[in-house]
Amino acid sequence: MEGLTIVRHPLVQHKLSLLRDRSTPTQMFRAVMRETATLLCYEVTRDLPTRPVRIETPLAPIEAAEIAGKKLVFVPILRAGLAMAEGMLDLVPAARVAHLGLYRDPATLQAVEYYFKAPEDIAARLVIVVDPMLATGHSAIAALDRLKAAGVTAPRFVCLLAARAGVEALRAAHPDVPIWTAAVDEVLNDHGYIVPGLGDAGDRTFGTR
Ligand code: URA
Repeated sequence: MEGLTIVRHPLVQHKLSLLRDRSTPTQMFRAVMRETATLLCYEVTRDLPTRPVRIETPLAPIEAAEIAGKKLVFVPILRAGLAMAEGMLDLVPAARVAHLGLYRDPATLQAVEYYFKAPEDIAARLVIVVDPMLATGHSAIAALDRLKAAGVTAPRFVCLLAARAGVEALRAAHPDVPIWTAAVDEVLNDHGYIVPGLGDAGDRTFGTR
């Protein structure tokens, strides 16, 4: 599907299997979530522009490359996005972080905002929204609505696992926003959970189940 990148790297797929496994304990789940996010970050930043820079190695001067263009801001959707944001910061430690708190109304499954704190210059940055589970798409759509209202242009969305319906909903609402994920599952149950999925990503990350 256009605008959707499924990251099929063997390390990503191996780590996703660990995350799906119900016997993976909390500490390991959190660590693997972070590692997987680092690998996904590598993919979502693959096309960042570079510019030439003159440096000297211990042996000779050369024209090397450095990242050019917009500075990055990662936007984890609270709370499940936090471990993913940590993994992305492992790769891009100079990035800023904007926090967006959304909870899912259990009756309507709609996203309700309760917190938003972003760098003042967010509209001038390359924004990467991170949330491990793209299920109904409601949270992702609300997050992107909020960020665009704050002036953000050309944001990107990264998740660990998506439901086909969530991908379709997000692409319909925000066709300009490309999506990266490690896998797409076909089933979304009546409670808005991805099946087979990996369960509740927030509970499994923080041990609150
Ligand atoms: N959020 C989760 O944590 N898991 C799902 O399966 C769907 C939404």
